[in-house]
Amino acid sequence: MSMLFTGIAELVTCDETVEGAVTDPLHAGLGVIRDAAVVIGGGGEDSAPVIEWVGPADKAPAADWSVSLEGRAVIPGFVDSHSHLVFAGDRSAEFAARMSGTPYDGGGIAVSVEATRAAKDFELRGLIQQRVTEMRSQGTTTVEIKSGYGLTVEDEVRALRLAREVTTETTFLGAHVVPPDRRAEGERAAYLDLVCGEMLQACAPHARWVDVFCEPASPYAFDGDESRRVLEAGRAAGLELRVHGNQLSEGPGVQLAVELGAASVDHCTFLTDADVDALAGSDTVATLLPGVEFSTRQPYPDARRLIEAGVSVAIASDCNPGTCYSSSMPLMVALAVREMGMTPAEALRAATVGGAKALRRDDIGRVQVGQRADLAVVDAPSWLHIPYRVGVPIVRALEI
Ligand code: NIG
Ligand code: FE
Repeated sequence: MSMLFTGIAELVTCDETVEGAVTDPLHAGLGVIRDAAVVIGGGGEDSAPVIEWVGPADKAPAADWSVSLEGRAVIPGFVDSHSHLVFAGDRSAEFAARMSGTPYDGGGIAVSVEATRAAKDFELRGLIQQRVTEMRSQGTTTVEIKSGYGLTVEDEVRALRLAREVTTETTFLGAHVVPPDRRAEGERAAYLDLVCGEMLQACAPHARWVDVFCEPASPYAFDGDESRRVLEAGRAAGLELRVHGNQLSEGPGVQLAVELGAASVDHCTFLTDADVDALAGSDTVATLLPGVEFSTRQPYPDARRLIEAGVSVAIASDCNPGTCYSSSMPLMVALAVREMGMTPAEALRAATVGGAKALRRDDIGRVQVGQRADLAVVDAPSWLHIPYRVGVPIVRALEI
């Protein structure tokens, strides 16, 4: 069964080698084909539909059925490579306090831990489902989901098990913070032993990745040595690495991520020149989370500085109850353009093929023959309307 989609005013492929792409600087790197068509067919290994043909509509082959998108633009579905969707409870009052000047220090995570532990499986499953649906309705077709609001062996396993029901990109974040009930004198080391021992062993079968909140500026998070221990234990248990680093201050997160070959170091808000150099000479993606700066009133990271140095950059939502309760990748694209010095084309690449690189995936993030048919439709004649029509819900995942 093959499906032909025509009537695509602009197709963003993110394939720099595609034939007939628009060549002006506004479209640099996007591989945009005007008046395009796409054929989707069959199923790949996991029976997900794949892209079979991409090109100008007047050269499209016949297919079993065909539908016109009536002059809309199509982009690769957003790859949101950083989120924390497994949580219950409400922290909107914390947001209000930050808007009037209270700084973020990670202390509020304890509130979400308590509410998440108290929630029943069906409640958490419902919340995750609601958030993933919300993401798809805004164009996200791949999402990474972390644990980190359980912080007991049982609650972390549960979070990952539930996350696995909706994505293969699951991340063990037992080292999110030292949990509120383990903060007595001398208990910190015992918690770290648990994370690197029994908790990791129980969680590893449900996770692809291990992550750590490396932030010496937060009394609740972990320093460089502690973070190294978590990451090395995770790797020994068969997990791949990602790091929360340099969110609240300059610190060891970026250098550690690069040294250990992490796929991505996320936040990167406070960077030294040495951090930028280390990233530029590495395979580690710098994942920027502009919604966090928006919701915490921190300064935005300078994406231009990273791009000019040759660093691979992704943008993601970090959707979580504390630092950014937005699941909107179109908003992240708009913020990246308006506040972080990215061109619209760079921001769109960072939210699609950049996210794919941050997840070490080469089957998503582009509209290219052989890739998964993860597409998003823009209710506008051009992809540029994504940042241009900020706040207007014009992007959605294409349901096939
Ligand atoms: O990525 N910084 C650590 N973790 C989350 C925030 C967690 C929370 O406050 O609930 C983040 O920003
Ligand atoms: Fe995060």
